[in-house]
Formats: sequence, C-alpha cells, structure tokens
Amino acid sequence: MAYAGKAHLCLTLIRLLAEEQLGLDVVSGGELYLARQAGFPLAAVHFHGNNKSAAELEMALPPSPPLAGGVGRIVVDNHHELELLEALAARRGVQAKVWLRLSPDVDVHTHTYNKTGLADSKFGFPLASDDAERAVQAALASTHLELVGLHTHLGSQAFETEPFAAAVEALLAFAVEMGRKHGFRLQELSPGGGWGVPYHESDPPAAIEDYVRAISLAVIEGCARHRLPLPRLTLEPGRSIVGPAGVALYTVGARKTIPGVRTYVAVDGGMADNLRPALYGVRYTALVANKAHQPAEEVVTIVGKFCESGDWLIRDISLPKLEPGDLLAMPVAGAYHLPLSSNYNLALRPAVVWVKDGHARLVQRRETYEDLVVRDLQPALQKGLPEFL
Ligand SMILES: Cc1ncc(COP(=O)(O)O)c(C=O)c1O
Repeated sequence: MAYAGKAHLCLTLIRLLAEEQLGLDVVSGGELYLARQAGFPLAAVHFHGNNKSAAELEMALPPSPPLAGGVGRIVVDNHHELELLEALAARRGVQAKVWLRLSPDVDVHTHTYNKTGLADSKFGFPLASDDAERAVQAALASTHLELVGLHTHLGSQAFETEPFAAAVEALLAFAVEMGRKHGFRLQELSPGGGWGVPYHESDPPAAIEDYVRAISLAVIEGCARHRLPLPRLTLEPGRSIVGPAGVALYTVGARKTIPGVRTYVAVDGGMADNLRPALYGVRYTALVANKAHQPAEEVVTIVGKFCESGDWLIRDISLPKLEPGDLLAMPVAGAYHLPLSSNYNLALRPAVVWVKDGHARLVQRRETYEDLVVRDLQPALQKGLPEFL
C-alpha cells in the first residue's frame, strides 16, 4: 500500500506513513524533497509524473554507485522520459528500478478532469498503439534501467469496481504478450489509486474493502487464467485515506439577500483554500458547528471572499440562520483541498490541526503576511522611494 501524497502532504503526515509502514507515491521534486526532509525511507517511494524534469529525475536516482539510495521505483510515463532517465543513470553509472505507466483506455464514471486512463489522456504509454511495446523493448534493452513492473491509474473519485478489474486484465494480457515476444517478466503490478469518498449526502457509500477485494480478485483470477506467477501488488490510494479525515472550518461574515433570487453568505476562505467546487463543481455539505442542534431555517449559497464570481463553496444548502461569527464546518476536506490551495488575492493559507481523542495538535501553522514576501527580492525597496504625495 503506497499513499498518494498529492492528496495531502506535510512532514507530520509523512512520519505517520512511515510509522504505519505505508509506501509513498510522489509526483514532483517538491513532494520528494518533503519525503527526504521527513527522513522517509526512499526505497518505499514511487515517483510519478508525466513530465519529470532532468533535475527531478536526478533527485530520484541513487547518488552514485553502488546502487544504494534513490527512490524505490520510478514510474516512467513516456518515451522522452525513458531516454532522459537512461541517459542520466548512465552518466551517473547507476541503475534504477522502473515501472511503465500504461494507458489502457478504460473509462471510470467521474468528472472529466479526474479521468486519466482513457486513450485521449496525457498520461502513460497507450496500449492501443505500439508505444507501450516499444517502451518495454527499450527498457529491457537498457543496462541502467531494470523494468520490474507495470502501472496504470484510471482516475480519481471512482465508485465502481468494474473498471479497476478491466484495467488489471488489460495489464496482465499485455504482460503475457510482452513475455512471449520479448521475455518480459511481470514482478510488480499497480493499478494506481482512485477510490472515491462521499462528499455529499447524495453520494453513494464507498467501502474501501470493495476496492481492495475487487482488485485482488482480478489479479488472482487473471494470473491463474494467464498462467502468470502472482506479482507484488501495489495500490496507491490518496483521497480514500485522508479525505474523510479532514474538516474545514470557516467563520461566517457578510451576507447578501437578493429577494426572489438567493441569499449569499460569505466565509473567511473560499477558492484560495478550496478550489474543488470552482474546478470540478464538487458538491459539499456543511454543519454550523456552534448551532449543530438547531433546525434548518433558510437556504443559502456559501461563497468565499475572493475576487471571482466562481468563488463558491456550496450552492443552495439548508442551514440554521447564519450570523457573522458562526463557525461553518465542511466535512471530507482532507484530500485535494489544501494541496490545490493558492495565495490568490494574497490569501494566507490556513493552519492544519490534527485532533484525536479530544486533543489538538498543530502540525502546520497558519501562513503570515511575512510568508507572502519571502520570495520577493529586496534591493529596489532599499533604495528608498521618491516623494510623490
Ligand atoms: C498515479 C496516481 N496514483 C494514485 C493517485 C491517487 O488517487 P486517489 O487520491 O483518487 O486515490 C493519483 C491521483 O491522481 C495518481 O495520479
């Protein structure tokens, strides 16, 4: 089991993953840097991404011969990366264990922006053309890359198990063909992550057991059918691990009623800390934490404080009468919420507090105004300004 760090990552979470003996899937030099800073075992890291730079790949490779160090698996996405990685590893005289990311053209029922396994996708070697076969041949021919596995990721926020089983079958059938034609031996297999979580009362329940069972069965039955030895199976859930763990807390401020149209209630956050409603039209629910036992009295639209009309969090929700200072709690805010956040309008990113058994622990402090200028270069300011008033 490898946790997909893009869903939410900070040093304390990485330490917890290590304690729980989970692997970590990173998708950038930044996430890899954090893993290193936290002292996470790099052998348990998988490095994803469709356009890793030379500098990022160099971070991932073992530092020098012998082969120790470096991330456990580099998931090669395309031919450019395959050639680049081969050249970098050769220059350093090291070897890297790689998986190939394949695009099986399997659809999942989710938002278009969350689909990643279709033929028309920027990710992976398409199985539909000879791209994937050429990648296998090139990786097998390389003296600096060791091809140990195949990978795919269909998308995110998926609730049906059938597409995962179909993807496993596509990868196994490809492995058999590559074994027959080129002597490839499938040692490791990863059908990615992507299992969904309910955000809203109308979303279906999603038991993680269903996802794990469906994929495990597809691998076991598929391998038996194809007479393949069982590969080591890696799942990469992100959202389903951290999503339900998070609650976003907002303080209510201004309200505006347009008679016969709608009532807007603004909170002290919005699209800068949670882009998901604006980006994917996600439906959230909420509770007024300090009025949890009061009945719903009005239908309102919860908006943020940022300078875009698309800056909304929840459209048309029935809540007790909201007043300035009320505390609005939005559940299922643990995944892809803060990782997609920005400093738009120079907003300060919120603090992250972990709560367990009535105890609170600050794991990431709130940003300060000083944080907003750390990257700005100072000399021009030191010169002094002309008098102009
Ligand atoms: C390669 C890969 N693995 C795993 C994940 C995690 O997906 P989820 O958070 O939906 O489980 C993603 C998400 O985009 C991904 O791209």
